[in-house]
Amino acid sequence: MAMERTIIILKPDAVTRQVCGEIIARFEKRGLKIAGLKMLKLTDETLNIHYAHHVTKPFFPRLSKFMKSAPVIAVVLEGNDSVNQVRKMCGATYPLEAAVGTIRGDYGMSMNNLIHASDSTEAAEAEIKRFFKPEELFNYTAANYEWVYAEEERKA
Ligand code: PPS
Repeated sequence: MAMERTIIILKPDAVTRQVCGEIIARFEKRGLKIAGLKMLKLTDETLNIHYAHHVTKPFFPRLSKFMKSAPVIAVVLEGNDSVNQVRKMCGATYPLEAAVGTIRGDYGMSMNNLIHASDSTEAAEAEIKRFFKPEELFNYTAANYEWVYAEEERKA
């Protein structure tokens, strides 16, 4: 299983509801490591690129307005199979359909769905580059690394 990075964006509802710490803690408790973190205000320019596949969809104006309504927090998370595991922890896009125990299933009641997560390794690579300069990402060994991963699942 490959050690990889993915990115989450804690959306304006997560920031204004003051649940970012709780949400980030879920990933840390799982064993995912923070490789980068920043707060920023999204612009039309970034949103049009980030949601390029959706700009023509009827929901895009609402999505764009929502994503600009308050700052967001972007976090790069590192771990084995992190792209898939983080998506599973977020739950289904629409919180009323998301399983209890997932972030959207536990915190969400509407299309204000709290969190974005990369949906493939290719998307993760592009999205990390979109939001972080190389010098804003960090390599270090977590103190619990040898306990989070079984010996045969640690990187060489
Ligand atoms: S699609 O058409 O099935 O590909 O779209 P979907 O994957 O469901 O959603 C793409 C992103 O748009 C967000 N979205 C919305 N946000 C706010 N309001 C409304 N009505 C809305 N509809 C879709 C959805 O959360 C996805 O954003 P991310 O950031 O990827 O979670």
